[in-house]
Amino acid sequence: MKNTMIAPSVLAADFGNLQRDVEMINASQADWFHIDIMDGVFVPNISFGMPVLEAIGKHAKKTLDVHLMIVDPDRYIKTFKDLGADILTVHYEACNHLHRTIQAIKAEGMKAGVALNPHTNVNVLEDVIKDLDLVLIMSVNPGFGGQSFIENTYNKVKKLKAMIDATGSSAIIEIDGGVTSKNAKALVEAGASALVAGSFVFKSETPIETIAELKEISTL
Ligand code: DX5
Ligand code: ZN
Repeated sequence: MKNTMIAPSVLAADFGNLQRDVEMINASQADWFHIDIMDGVFVPNISFGMPVLEAIGKHAKKTLDVHLMIVDPDRYIKTFKDLGADILTVHYEACNHLHRTIQAIKAEGMKAGVALNPHTNVNVLEDVIKDLDLVLIMSVNPGFGGQSFIENTYNKVKKLKAMIDATGSSAIIEIDGGVTSKNAKALVEAGASALVAGSFVFKSETPIETIAELKEISTL
């Protein structure tokens, strides 16, 4: 049986009631907290930074899956480790020396992930795929929650899954953007093992049930 990781995106939480929303995720069947850090340079939006992550970390009782949408992420690898990140994902498009960045993340004892924008071909990861713990496929353009899912994502996931299998890499595939109960199953069938969901969870009247629904649908 395939145990797909469900990662609600805190970006879609009510920041005025952040502790309440973190406790909701703690109490749910979610596996990870997905944390989006945006710098207003790599993406046209600024989300939140270290003090807010620290506040989340104080209450969160599950894996912290941190997605950096920032330029020059190397500057902050140790900082994110100290803030409690378990998985640290950087963007391929933001790293000039990706191999070095991946090694630096692992040297801090975190799982290393690389994210690809919708226009970036999965082939660019061929020479580092065996070093990676996770590949995050952006299924919307990064920067905002609530956008609609890009259908070409399925092709990318299948191609990446074939590369992972062919190389014997242990990397898992995470999908981020526009995930709902409508596309979750097909994404897992294509090869995804972790699904991020922001608006779909937090716009729901019953987020705990919505998380349970996603977990159920994506367990094949
Ligand atoms: C977008 C972020 C996503 C976002 C997903 O740049 O990386 O994690 O929170 O939100 P939804 O699920 O609403 O598309
Ligand atoms: Zn994200």
